[in-house]
Amino acid sequence: MQILVVGSTGKLGSKLVEVLSQGYNVVGIGSIELDIKNFNEVMTVIRREKPDLVVNAAAWTDVDACALDPDKAVTINGFGAQNLAIAAHEVGAAILYISSNEVFDGQSRQPYHEYDQSNPANAYGYSKYVGERGVIESNPRHYVVRTSWIFAHKGKNFVHAIIDAARLKKQLRVVTDEVANPTYNDDLAAAIGLLVDTGRYGTYHLCNEGSVSRYQFARYILDKAGYAETPIEKISRHEWKRPSLPPAYSGLANTLGRHIGIRMRDWQDAVDEFLLREGLITTA
Ligand SMILES: NC(=O)c1ccc[n+]([C@@H]2O[C@H](COP(=O)([O-])OP(=O)(O)OC[C@H]3O[C@@H](n4cnc5c(N)ncnc54)[C@H](OP(=O)(O)O)[C@@H]3O)[C@@H](O)[C@H]2O)c1
Repeated sequence: MQILVVGSTGKLGSKLVEVLSQGYNVVGIGSIELDIKNFNEVMTVIRREKPDLVVNAAAWTDVDACALDPDKAVTINGFGAQNLAIAAHEVGAAILYISSNEVFDGQSRQPYHEYDQSNPANAYGYSKYVGERGVIESNPRHYVVRTSWIFAHKGKNFVHAIIDAARLKKQLRVVTDEVANPTYNDDLAAAIGLLVDTGRYGTYHLCNEGSVSRYQFARYILDKAGYAETPIEKISRHEWKRPSLPPAYSGLANTLGRHIGIRMRDWQDAVDEFLLREGLITTA
């Protein structure tokens, strides 16, 4: 199978190129070579590459910037995703779209299942919802993979931000009322690889098991990495002023993935391995 990974310079996209290359012929493409907003460019690239599957890991992921420019967010994350799904369909390829926990409004108090009603509450979530609709309606052979709070060895992430702040003895203030699943990029890419192997199209929630608040996540990282004495001030989402208000509760249940044998480990085990591989701890 020939796979085209779009967004291959990103955290998840680059890992997906690595993982999928173990079993398939993979071509990765970044935003310099392809702007997914441009339908003609998308058609040209997909006709040229003739993939059997297009994996769309491209997105405008700066949620606060999306809140300040919602039209741009929907153009890239929504219509860009639809462009790829239409072009894939045109050449007989399937499409895999990476979506987000932020398509839910956060009013639940238990993990959202794949078939629960989406109702995005901010611009980024809305743009990802538009992307999901565009993919589902444009290409019957689709996978929609929702995930949350990715931490990766590449680029900036919450784990490094918390440890760096502790090292520099900065005052840490972390929210207690934003809950989701921390997800290790490498686990997510491996799970997507397994999903692609199955050929079972549909909507999946793939993230590490367990929903926690940002505060609990930060506390775990510090305790584990040798900063147990570092205090964290507990604050609410409303005290952490930012353009995009995240959903309060957006834990995801990996119901359908488990049903087809794709299990994700607990987020604590994933964080332990991440810290170990980053050289931040010596034993898990
Ligand atoms: N990070 C998270 O916590 C998280 C949580 C839930 C869902 N997701 C979803 O997971 C997916 C991967 O996220 P990530 O964290 O790996 O993102 P990332 O590191 O920010 O990478 C995004 C990728 O998209 C590319 N891109 C941006 N605009 C583009 C455009 N107009 N045309 C083509 N490519 C474009 C970027 O290219 P350049 O590098 O050249 O700009 C980059 O390769 C996204 O769909 C995101 O919405 C992420």
